[in-house]
Amino acid sequence: PIVGVVVVAAGSGTRLGAGRPKAFVELAGRTVLERSLTSVFGMQREAQIVVVAPADRVSEAEAIATHAAGVAASSISVVAGGDTRQQSVALGLAALDASVRIVLIHDAARALTPSAVFDAVVAGVAQTASGIVPGIAVQDTVKRVDDDETVVETVDRSELRSIQTPQGFPRAALDDAYAGATVEHTDDAALFAAAGHTVSVIDGDQASFKITTPWDLRRAEGLLTALSG
Ligand code: CTP
Ligand code: MG
Repeated sequence: PIVGVVVVAAGSGTRLGAGRPKAFVELAGRTVLERSLTSVFGMQREAQIVVVAPADRVSEAEAIATHAAGVAASSISVVAGGDTRQQSVALGLAALDASVRIVLIHDAARALTPSAVFDAVVAGVAQTASGIVPGIAVQDTVKRVDDDETVVETVDRSELRSIQTPQGFPRAALDDAYAGATVEHTDDAALFAAAGHTVSVIDGDQASFKITTPWDLRRAEGLLTALSG
């Protein structure tokens, strides 16, 4: 396929504190990883999907992936991740077929991301050949503070966006950016931009929030319960 999706699920879930890696935690009866993959399989276009899992959970991730795939046309495989998210992404990129021209990188922890966001990111990369990231407006007032928490200024939030995943990129440029990366970046778009490339923001979705803390997990459970009930 032309499109590849790397789903990073190799983190340990320290802040969630559920006693196991976050992707393998149950969320209203199905794992976080299975819910994320169901969204990926809902994409309009066929894709090659690569899941990056903790080294000791590769076979568990394979079973979840097979279950999520059902009769979908897209292919899916699992590789072992690394110590940092950036290393895990690099290991996922290395598993993509030569045919892939557009790559999406997605956090498994964003379990409720709508399939339409994946389609929109693919369309954006195809149209622009830039990096494309989903983002949403910042709703709180944002202040800059100094070392003792004294407010220095109120930041103009109209020019800020909270950035989510999936983040999409032309494959060759992303591979080169990863090969040349010398520091850890907080997201793939920052690594891509550091290599001199353009990144544009498209509309994200509130449902794409990242499950980070126990509060986030309860919020996701509440949303799923509201939808099914
Ligand atoms: N991730 C990964 N490999 C790592 C670290 C993170 O694949 N070495 C993935 C996580 O599985 C997650 C995504 O990157 O889907 C976003 O990371 P984060 O929310 O920080 O997840 P964790 O690192 O698992 O959580 P924590 O930082 O609380 O330990
Ligand atoms: Mg982390």
